[in-house]
Amino acid sequence: MTGLSVKHLIGIKYLTHEDVALIFETADNFKQLINRPIKKVPSLRDITIANAFFENSTRTRLSFELAEKRLSADIINFSASTSSVTKGETLLDTINNVIAMKVDMIVMRHPNPGAANFLAQNVNAIIVNAGDGTHEHPTQGLLDAYSIREKHGKIEGLKVAIIGDILHSRVALSNIFTLTKLGAEVMVCAPPTLIPKFIASLGVKVEYNVNKALEWCDVANVLRIQLERQQGGYFPSLREYSMAYGINLDRLQKIGKPITIMHPGPINRGVELDSNVADSTEYSIILDQVENGVAIRMAVLYLLAARVDRS
Ligand code: CP
Repeated sequence: MTGLSVKHLIGIKYLTHEDVALIFETADNFKQLINRPIKKVPSLRDITIANAFFENSTRTRLSFELAEKRLSADIINFSASTSSVTKGETLLDTINNVIAMKVDMIVMRHPNPGAANFLAQNVNAIIVNAGDGTHEHPTQGLLDAYSIREKHGKIEGLKVAIIGDILHSRVALSNIFTLTKLGAEVMVCAPPTLIPKFIASLGVKVEYNVNKALEWCDVANVLRIQLERQQGGYFPSLREYSMAYGINLDRLQKIGKPITIMHPGPINRGVELDSNVADSTEYSIILDQVENGVAIRMAVLYLLAARVDRS
């Protein structure tokens, strides 16, 4: 296999099994590199990347920026709140102006599902989706699956429960697409109001009882309750959500078997996940996920840069 089957990274659903295997294999090499004293290679020194963030981010923005620096790309950072977007400039005008400055790749986070796909259809640059509304967050899906493989030595046959706000989560969809592609069994668990009706058509199990989900799974990926998107009254109160679905030490100890706990961040501590689990070396691989994010993003950028016209 020589390269990815896609020109842009819009969503995991557009990738083949071979694409994911190639990204993981490339990330293995970059993970070794970033653990050496000299963490930089010149691979993208002729490439310019713009990080265009129209929505807040800590992990994804910094992780992409670090990945780009480790690969020696030239980078510019764009944030909507301090740009002419606030004066009414359109997304297309904004990005075309950025590209006119001889930018090759755009890493974009945007609140609207489909924004990354729209750009890929309408501008002349490689587009990397860093999260588009409730649609997909492909590099998070990849780094989560990569972290599961690192911890368990495999993905095929593992049972992964995704617990929390599935309805509003791009992370849930990208995890489901990645994990089912790689042969894991996937379950979603939440109150019925936080599970979209179409989810079973993606080949996942649905469970409303969190204790049963924990008994079933090898890995629990706990998702953030998206406080900014709860105006619909999806559950009575955060306290009741936490009592019914929150992952805490007491619940895990009653299950009495090893379970790997993941969370994409940011965590609402004491709501979907208690600190004594999030910070526990026995259960949590949350900071491993963050470390692996840099290697995965280096791999994605490196492989997509092969599609840049360097003539
Ligand atoms: N996991 C994730 O997307 O975190 P940020 O919103 O901080 O980038």
